[in-house]
Amino acid sequence: AEQFSYNEKGHLLFGGLDTIDLAKKYGTPLFVYDVEKIRENARAFVETFQKHGIKAQVAYASKAFSSIAMVQVAKQENLSLDVVSQGELYTALQAGFPVDKIHFHGNNKSLEELRMAIESKIGCIVIDNFHEMVLLESLLAEYDATMDVLIRVTPGIEAHTHDYILTGNEDSKFGFDLTNGQADKAIQQLLAKERIHLKGLHCHIGSQIFETDGFMMAVERLFEKLAEWSKSYQFTAEVLNLGGGFGIRYTSEDEPLPLEKYVESLIEKVSSQTNKYNMVFPEIWIEPGRSIVGDACITLYSIGSIKEIPNVRKYVAVDGGMTDNLRPALYQAKYEAVVANKAQQPSDEEVSIAGKCCESGDMLIWDIMLPEVEANDILAVFSTGAYGYSMANHYNRFAKPAVVFVEKGKDQLVVKRESYQDLVTNDLSYEEE
Ligand code: LLP
Repeated sequence: AEQFSYNEKGHLLFGGLDTIDLAKKYGTPLFVYDVEKIRENARAFVETFQKHGIKAQVAYASKAFSSIAMVQVAKQENLSLDVVSQGELYTALQAGFPVDKIHFHGNNKSLEELRMAIESKIGCIVIDNFHEMVLLESLLAEYDATMDVLIRVTPGIEAHTHDYILTGNEDSKFGFDLTNGQADKAIQQLLAKERIHLKGLHCHIGSQIFETDGFMMAVERLFEKLAEWSKSYQFTAEVLNLGGGFGIRYTSEDEPLPLEKYVESLIEKVSSQTNKYNMVFPEIWIEPGRSIVGDACITLYSIGSIKEIPNVRKYVAVDGGMTDNLRPALYQAKYEAVVANKAQQPSDEEVSIAGKCCESGDMLIWDIMLPEVEANDILAVFSTGAYGYSMANHYNRFAKPAVVFVEKGKDQLVVKRESYQDLVTNDLSYEEE
């Protein structure tokens, strides 16, 4: 299991606080973020660029976890913000995030979304497809406005990760293909549009990536094309956005690089490529989501029923599951956990952690060693900060959990637990004729 500390009661500490006190105060399931850890992760990226004197933007990919408080922390850390929907943009605006540092992504942005992006004067739109280009141009004419854009290209890289989170290969719904002339056509069209200012290229090759070779190949392919485009269209990229995807440790099987290393290898590669092609060093933008919030959070659950099948398995059920963490069911994602009120006890029994949804696939952790558990013990699952709350859902009409931030020994509720009233708030009764 990962490094953790506990107090004299044998209670797991997180962000310096007794997790059992937090579970009592706020109820379970509960997401608890250590804000100092979020800041530390953000600074690892920002400071590495600074140290190397590279002009950069580190955009927090808010899809990993978006809430007003989280966006405020991103703002405090001088991050930029990647939003992919009107909902995420709305959250950013509500949080008072500086609009010029908001980047808008998405493979099917609606007219309303583009309208909101223009009206709120966000910094940049990442153009994904021809349809969007046409919509944006006509809207800009309507508003008599201009917009900075990046163009999202698909470099045809297969990063080693789960199929569902692999996004940079050729057979992908995202972006313009670099290899079949699509991107060339898009660049040509964009450069001809008066109201659209093409600042550079974007690519994102996947998520939860541990090796740098995928990023290196992507950068090489981008530069090959940039060299071509500088000749054929006199186009120079001011910005290269290399996406997110930096892997984190969920279990001891994962061996991520320190976050600084990802940045350093990108800087090195961009530098060698600019030399090779004799180009101006562009600004480097990145979009980490998971690596900023993933390992900065735990989920606390209460243990309830326990079913033992002799010689087969012991199922230990908790009061959440695929409704607050879809990742095990969707990606066979693995997690580590401890019994928070028995943190000093030896883990000498193998059990499997089940959720409480009416679905056999609702298992959070298979085969984990824990101390002997009983009802009302508190289970703490580690590294649940990315794509946990943000992919939470209402299956079985479960209410979404609360989210608490802890920093400097203080806890603060930042997302309220949903009420049952919230669940039916949009329901209308059916009037029989
Ligand atoms: N930029 C773009 C264009 C993206 O598509 C993504 C993630 C990111 C940045 C942030 O990637 P990160 O640094 O978080 O790896 N739900 C999946 C992950 C989906 C990622 C989608 N795009 C999961 O739970 O693993």
